[in-house]
Amino acid sequence: MIYLNGKFMPIEKATISVLDRGFIFGDGVYEVIPVYSRKPFRLEHHLLRLQHSLDGIRLNNPYDNEHWHNLLEQIIDNNKGEDQYIYLHITRGVAKREHAFPENTAPTVFIMSSPLPEPPQKLLEQGVTAVTANDNRWIRCDIKAISLLPNVLLRQLATDVQAAETILLRDGFLTEGSSSSIFVVKDGLLLAPPKSHLMLPGITYDVVLDLAEENNIPYKVREISEIELRVADEILLTSSTREITAITRLDDQPVGCGKPGARYSQLQKLYQHYKRTVMRNELS
Ligand code: PDD
Repeated sequence: MIYLNGKFMPIEKATISVLDRGFIFGDGVYEVIPVYSRKPFRLEHHLLRLQHSLDGIRLNNPYDNEHWHNLLEQIIDNNKGEDQYIYLHITRGVAKREHAFPENTAPTVFIMSSPLPEPPQKLLEQGVTAVTANDNRWIRCDIKAISLLPNVLLRQLATDVQAAETILLRDGFLTEGSSSSIFVVKDGLLLAPPKSHLMLPGITYDVVLDLAEENNIPYKVREISEIELRVADEILLTSSTREITAITRLDDQPVGCGKPGARYSQLQKLYQHYKRTVMRNELS
């Protein structure tokens, strides 16, 4: 069951116009929200980031927070799985093809939810491999725009060599992954690149830094050079759908000892615990 422009319907019944500006120009923004035990995780943070993205493309938010809460609750109720991930997508609507914004056009709003699978045991025990590439995206990567062609092309570089993620470097410094945030660990110190217009402000990134702060894990938010990435003891990937994942090979070289490291295991446990605590307390 999906939501499209005011109506709930089976996904097979959902259609949009070929003139939708999302289809024609990639003119829209989106969010991906994890759902644990049928409750959206850190929903307020996702709604704040959605507002930031909408402001970034000068599109009015079609709904207030109460209405978003209500719609998401219905989507979760009407889809399978205790754990799900919601995809929500807003475009500038349907209009004659003309680059400049149309006047008085209603936005297109689409929401769907899919089951969030448990990560396979092999992934938890062995981690995943990654490659690096030059970050050739635009410089408003803080906007969660639906126009993802650069991210798609960059991710394919990893898929082409059976790797799980492409880690991006701009001017010799780490930005993020093609669809994830990236952390580095050296001598026990957790390093995170600072938020800027060159990366998406990850919600899971915030959770990891909150957990580090609350549990006295030494961390620093600062620029990370390519060399630091290459000599890291551990590299971690985070996202709403992949939670925290260890990267154990980078460009065909082992990261540290080539196995998920101590900080990864610690943060993974803390994240799982936090996730369950939040859900029990019915906070989001
Ligand atoms: N992507 N950076 C990029 C470019 C991303 O696409 C994502 C997530 C992240 C991590 O953000 P968060 O922790 O809020 O999920 C960072 C989602 C999952 C996607 O596009 O499917």
